[in-house]
This record gives sequence, C-alpha cells and structure tokens, in this order.
Amino acid sequence: KDQQQADLLTLYADSAKMYQHILVNTELGEPALDYLHQRGLDDDTIATFGIGYAPANQLLLDFFKEHNVDYQLLRQSGLFIENQAGELRDRFVDRVLFPIKDASGRVIAFSGRILKKSPDEPKYLNSPETKLFNKRSVLFNFDLARGAIRQHKSVVLFEGFMDVIAAYRAGIQNGVASMGTSLTNEQIYMLERVTDQLYICYDSDMPGQKATDRALKLLGDQSRLKLGVVQMPDGMDPDEYLRANDATKFQQVFEDGKQTPTAFEMQYLRHDLNLQNTQDQLTYLDAVLQQLTQLSSSVEQDLYLNQLVQEFGLNKDDLREQLRSLVGQKS
Ligand code: UTP
Ligand code: MN
Ligand code: MN
Ligand code: MN
Ligand code: MN
Repeated sequence: KDQQQADLLTLYADSAKMYQHILVNTELGEPALDYLHQRGLDDDTIATFGIGYAPANQLLLDFFKEHNVDYQLLRQSGLFIENQAGELRDRFVDRVLFPIKDASGRVIAFSGRILKKSPDEPKYLNSPETKLFNKRSVLFNFDLARGAIRQHKSVVLFEGFMDVIAAYRAGIQNGVASMGTSLTNEQIYMLERVTDQLYICYDSDMPGQKATDRALKLLGDQSRLKLGVVQMPDGMDPDEYLRANDATKFQQVFEDGKQTPTAFEMQYLRHDLNLQNTQDQLTYLDAVLQQLTQLSSSVEQDLYLNQLVQEFGLNKDDLREQLRSLVGQKS
C-alpha cells in the first residue's frame, strides 16, 4: 500500500517533468509559453512554480505506456479518463498545467487552464480526488510560502493560482490559494499551525467580495486567526492589478490598503443599498451597528462610530445608545 503511494508520487513527479519539458523545450509548447509570457510570467517564475503544458494529443499516455507503467496505477492516478471499454486517454488536453503540491512540495495533482476562452469547457480543470489529493486539505503554494509566512508572521489568501503567482513576482511570497472552492476547516487548521494573522485578498469584483464576506464569517466562527482584508482597486484581481501597474504599486496596496474586517463589511454592506434614500440609510446603519456589537474593543467601535457621525451627520451619543441597546438585546 505504501508502495502504491510511492508509485503514484513518482508518476506525478514524472508527469510534471514531462509537462514542463513540453512547455519549455518543444515546439508543441510554444503557444502555451507565449501565453504565459504575455501574462507576464518569465522563465524563472515558470520554473519556480513548475508550470507545464499538456498538448492536444495523448502524449502522457503514450509516454507511460512506452515505459510499461502499470495500468492500474495509471487508472488510479486521475491523470487519465477511462471510457466504457476501459481504455484510457489523457485528462488534460491543450491546457497550461499548474502542479498542485502537498505541504512537503510533492506533486499530488494538477490544475489545467484553458488557453482560449471556451463556452463549453471550464476555465480551470482540476485532477479528481485520489488517495493523495483531497482538495479540501490542500492550499496552492503552501509548500513554497511556508518560510515567508513564518518570516512575515502572516499569510495572504488569494482566490486564484495566477494571483498567488503575481504576488510572488511582486515580492509578496507568503500567499496561498484554495482549490477553487471556498475555504475549508482543514485549510484553516493548516494555516493556524504556522501563523496567527491572515489577510484575505480575493478578487475585488462582486463574487470576490461575496466570497470575502463568507470567509470572514467562517473564520470568525471557526478560528482564532487575526483577520484583515486587502482589496485591489477598481474591481480587479491581484494579477490584473499587477499587470496594469507595477510591483511597487502592488506592494503599496498591501502597505496602505489593509482593512479590518469591520471596515470591509461597512463598505461591502453598501453593495445592494442606495444610500441616497433614507430607507436604505436606516437599513445600513442598523446592519453596521449589528456588526459593531461583535467588536470587543470600544476604541475600535469608536473609530467606526466617528465615521458614521461624519457621513450621516448623526449624534454620537445617540449611536452609542443604540449600540448599547443592541448589545443588551443579545445577552
Ligand atoms: P477566477 O475566475 O477569478 O479565475 O477564479 P482567475 O484565477 O482570475 O484566472 P485567470 O486569471 O483568468 O487565469 C478563481 C479561481 O477559481 C478556480 C481556480 O482555482 C481559479 O484560480 N476556478 C475558476 C476553477 O476551479 N474552475 C473554473 O472554471 C474557474
Ligand atoms: Mn514568448
Ligand atoms: Mn474571481
Ligand atoms: Mn480572478
Ligand atoms: Mn485573473
């Protein structure tokens, strides 16, 4: 059984090498390499992350068949799709491949990005779950980031692989991403063991903000991590922002743009409200005050109350009174 796991690991390592070789050294890989270059990845970055390319033919299957690799092992690897007749073919076809590694840096799966948008195929395709790959307990780049997480005493959680890679290029190397799902308890536990400060830097588009809101609630309930939020300007994701700007600007967002969860929520709560009308103003104030009841620091509460005083021309004592009565209702 241990032998089987070792064989699978060898198979993934060989596959990763193969895919990388195709990307970097062959004519077949040229369109994919150009694609990555156009997205700002240089050859060092491509090597650091072990990025590869799965071409449109059955290259991987042929390669392993030629080397007489055990059929059952190939079946279990998740790298192939089996038809009714029990025949295998490559799962990853014409995709840029990101190796997914475990905490010790061993390849246990792949995620493949399509080169050109297609209506009937997913943008990213992940390996299926196997004995070695449980996507709930994997964080992309955790192996490489661990040192930087300890050093900076914080971790940054991104939405996508390309965002982790963009941040890495811009000098922010303590970034990880979940596998295209929302954050899981297993992932939270992994992070808690190496740090006590987490920044969420999801895409700043509406789905990203929704996901941030959800993650903050989950983390607030399930973990003792200190939380912060970083949002790229103008609805961009971190990768887009880096490409539209430069590393210095990118780092500056991380220097200046760190928000408390409450500051994020106060902005997020506005998304489906029209603060020009009094109805929505009241809804907003009520929701914000509800948020504030959850804060244990009265200094922090004060900070936000001052903002409400400013924005809505309200009386601070009235707000404080209201806040106290909300806290009272809870206990
Ligand atoms: P996004 O749609 O924001 O993609 O999904 P992205 O990371 O910006 O990708 P690029 O820049 O277009 O290459 C965020 C993440 O959700 C997962 C992937 O992990 C992706 O990085 N995802 C997205 C999937 O698993 N499948 C999909 O079809 C799309
Ligand atoms: Mn090129
Ligand atoms: Mn997104
Ligand atoms: Mn994105
Ligand atoms: Mn993107």
